[in-house]
Amino acid sequence: MRILAIETSCDETAVAVVEDGWKVLCNVIASSLNLHQLTGGIVPEVAARAHVESIVPALEEVLNQMAPGKTRNQQVAMIDQIAVTSEPGLVTSLLVGTETAKWLAYLWEKPLLKVNHIHGHVAANWLERDPAIEPIAFPLVCLSVSGGHNELILMKQPGEYEIIGQSQDDAAGEAFDKVARILGLGYPGGPVIEAFAEKFQFSSAAADNFQFPRAWMNSNASDKWDGTSFDFSFSGLKSEVLREVQKRGDLEEENRVEIAYAFQEAVFDVLVTKLIGAAEKFNVKEIHIAGGVSANKRFRSLISEKMKMAGLDIPFRSPKQMVYCTDNAAMIGAAAKTFPVPSSLFLQS
Ligand code: KG4
Ligand code: ZN
Repeated sequence: MRILAIETSCDETAVAVVEDGWKVLCNVIASSLNLHQLTGGIVPEVAARAHVESIVPALEEVLNQMAPGKTRNQQVAMIDQIAVTSEPGLVTSLLVGTETAKWLAYLWEKPLLKVNHIHGHVAANWLERDPAIEPIAFPLVCLSVSGGHNELILMKQPGEYEIIGQSQDDAAGEAFDKVARILGLGYPGGPVIEAFAEKFQFSSAAADNFQFPRAWMNSNASDKWDGTSFDFSFSGLKSEVLREVQKRGDLEEENRVEIAYAFQEAVFDVLVTKLIGAAEKFNVKEIHIAGGVSANKRFRSLISEKMKMAGLDIPFRSPKQMVYCTDNAAMIGAAAKTFPVPSSLFLQS
């Protein structure tokens, strides 16, 4: 079963062909990131126009990568279904992908599936994992952390899941982006804060650094997580960073490095504590992370460390390639197999 998948929910125009829900035949991503760096964040109108320009070239590139030298009709005959991200995301960006997918399905006479973007991030861990060789065991817990969303998901079976916690305000990636802006480090914030924090992590000052407070969302007053809530909140932390920056005045490089480190540790302390807490509470067989923030090396190593401390000897999986952490269409092709939703919204089938 070969699925041609389209993802345009934010600033990546992405098209991929995925076989049997895990094998990536080709994966093309045209990003309009350079345009958003000029404004320090995404302007929806700019992102949508970039999708309009990139979608047809991306589609052609994918078909030619999948079957070089074949005619267009031969290439189309190799596709069984079309899948597209239908929500959540920037509406004008989503429309470019959904309209394209709708017309392709109509013209090529293929079934059309609509895919939830967050299901896509969760399914990114299916990619390049042959189920015959690397089967995924259930139940599992997946922490999907991006710029637009932040969910802790308990999955009992493929496609059968419950959201046990989510951010009540900013998503963690959004906090990275806003803090990078406060520190004057550019957009997107995640990779640059990771690089700054790394400079501090290995310095002698790391031992006695100051800390930002953690928002545990406890029912009881406690400065440690009391296990009552799996929800998250990061907007208070962002305000704490702003206060600290204003207090210090003109920032030297070393101030930025120290603040980036303290911020990153505060975010990951909460995310990792709750992820491990959920794994223990629900007795899961695997721990997964997904979304743009899952590209962070400190995040990954803290999870491994805390799993060891908790005596959790189960697989910990993150997307096999960094490009599957951030937005891409291969994950949409994987989710279309795991969470298939026929698109009666677009076409009667
Ligand atoms: O999943 P994604 O590409 O788009 C959304 O669905 O939102 O995630 C983008 C987010 C951005 O907020 C970006 O700053 C963050 O992921 N991010 C990172 C890293 N790489 C990207 N955050 C922390 N560390 C990283 N290495
Ligand atoms: Zn995303």
